[in-house]
Amino acid sequence: FMADKGNHRHFMAKEIHEQPEVVGRTLAHYVNFTAGQVALPFELPFDFKNLKRISISACGTAYLAGLISKYWFERLARIPVEIDVASEFRYREAPLEPGELALFVSQSGETADTLASLRYASSEKQHTLSVVNVPTSTMARESAVVAQTLAGVEVGVASTKAFTCQLTVLLSLAIAAGRARGVLSAEDEKELVDALIAVPGQMSEAMKREHQIEILARELSKAKDVLYLGRGTSYPLAMEGALKLKEISYIHAEGYAAGELKHGPIALIDETMPVIVIAPYDNIFEKTVSNMQEVAARGGRIILITDEKGALETGLDTMATIVMPSVNPVVAPIVNSIPIQLLAYHTAVFMGKDVDQPRNLAKSVTVE
Ligand code: G6P
Repeated sequence: FMADKGNHRHFMAKEIHEQPEVVGRTLAHYVNFTAGQVALPFELPFDFKNLKRISISACGTAYLAGLISKYWFERLARIPVEIDVASEFRYREAPLEPGELALFVSQSGETADTLASLRYASSEKQHTLSVVNVPTSTMARESAVVAQTLAGVEVGVASTKAFTCQLTVLLSLAIAAGRARGVLSAEDEKELVDALIAVPGQMSEAMKREHQIEILARELSKAKDVLYLGRGTSYPLAMEGALKLKEISYIHAEGYAAGELKHGPIALIDETMPVIVIAPYDNIFEKTVSNMQEVAARGGRIILITDEKGALETGLDTMATIVMPSVNPVVAPIVNSIPIQLLAYHTAVFMGKDVDQPRNLAKSVTVE
């Protein structure tokens, strides 16, 4: 294999721009487009109907994909999900009832802590299912079920296309679970599958905001600290945005649940700390707007990532609003990954950082 940046300056840029294609490819593997149904490309050795719990463990960006899927499995399939970073899960001796599902998410399939968690779960008689990008990896070999992401080789240390492909697979699994458990009707399923099918096109549309984001990145590069806020699935995405930014630009960033703002981070708000708010127009949009008002009242400068409806409804002065296409709120975190990745990328590039090889970080952490 020879890695090739194509027309891009960095692998990370190439991989961000590849997402419509690789998410589409992954989707084609998991859904039947004409039937409007999820069609898993493997047999399951368990029935979602009988599960009492799913335990998810993963590290880094893969963990945040898992955290987004918790909202999906709980909302769409009514299965309780517990989730932990693998370095905690492997040592905390969590009681696991035999016959439940342990789910792992990993780009490389080699991360030491995730692999150790997989082995622990197997020894505790869990059904094991791993969402991995490398089908020949150790985790793929040792898992009862392998759900492959078809992101292709990811070279950039900061994960981008693997993340959105993980989300695509996890949402497909949650929809399959919802159907098996009788939570989703055939129409519900079709609506969700249609929303998923629209995602690659919406991601391409989202890329058109790149120039606006590039200009904003110059502002962001002056910050010492950046706060990211979101609710629901936008909360783990806020953490992913903060993770991306700190990994490649070395600007300190934190992702917080918007509702936790008043329990701490509000103390830090002033005109020097940009606040990036991810708020698609959904059932909790208004709640996030009131958090933005709290930020604005303290002179905080807001960069709002929302959709057309949200942009009309906020009635707030923001430093900038990045308007995404309107999508089904269930798939919003997949589409909104694009602006948060581009924001981190352009900030780091503007600051002259090596975005493909950030200091102290490794693509795959195979030692503890
Ligand atoms: C490292 C990488 C991250 C990745 C994490 C988990 O920290 O820099 O991009 O999310 O490991 O890796 P995995 O291969 O298990 O997804």
